[in-house]
Amino acid sequence: MTAVSRLVGRAVRALDTVESTQAVLARLAREGAPEGTVVTARHQTGGRGRRGRLWWDEPGQSLLMSVLLRPSTPTAHAPQLSLVAGLAVAGALGPAAGVAARIRWPNDVLIGGRKVCGVLPEAVSSADGRVGHLLLGIGINVDESEFPEDLRDHATSLRMETGVSHDQDRLLAALLAALDRRYAEWLAGGFARLREEWRRLASTLGERVRTPDGREGLAVDVDDDGALLVDAGEGALTRLVAGTRVLAP
Ligand code: BTN
Repeated sequence: MTAVSRLVGRAVRALDTVESTQAVLARLAREGAPEGTVVTARHQTGGRGRRGRLWWDEPGQSLLMSVLLRPSTPTAHAPQLSLVAGLAVAGALGPAAGVAARIRWPNDVLIGGRKVCGVLPEAVSSADGRVGHLLLGIGINVDESEFPEDLRDHATSLRMETGVSHDQDRLLAALLAALDRRYAEWLAGGFARLREEWRRLASTLGERVRTPDGREGLAVDVDDDGALLVDAGEGALTRLVAGTRVLAP
């Protein structure tokens, strides 16, 4: 497949306060918005996190965005886009913000072990088992100087890491360019093409992780599909596949 350039961010809708950029973009997608459409917001009143959690933000301090993708691939490949997004964000934050960002499988972006960015992929399947469209929600803590108590030990912001505030328009431009490039590479060669670079920015490999069924093991690698390979001491490696929330059409 030929790589498509400058697809991501071809149309950007910058909104002030919304419940969730995912909900706004879901509506636009149903109305036929083209692939690469982006919705940003200054504040979300019901920001969605993974596993049904809320995503907190301080108005004006975070980069909150959703990106519409329409890859013509089987739904089973959708989780790979989580890792593609993590790679794009971590890779862009280095040069754009002067930080050493790392990826915690599948797609949390960390600085010094604390989370600076979360990614939420939400897919709508078509009747033939392919991805109808996918909403890639990305939240980056940019200028927060403190977090609510329950997040304090695990979260960080670009400002807390660098001591300076960051231009959100510049960051957004860098992120959209990185997402555009990584998505084009993924379309052309799948996660296999990005695997080596993902590995280089990964914090998870070599760490102890817990599997969904409660076992502990050592994260040894990711495979060509982006699955995490865990050595739980049982001979064969356990293969963990990233979750993608599936929305009703
Ligand atoms: C996570 O829990 O790690 C994922 C968080 C994703 C948050 C972003 S903020 C922009 C977009 N809109 C949402 O409602 N959620 C995502």
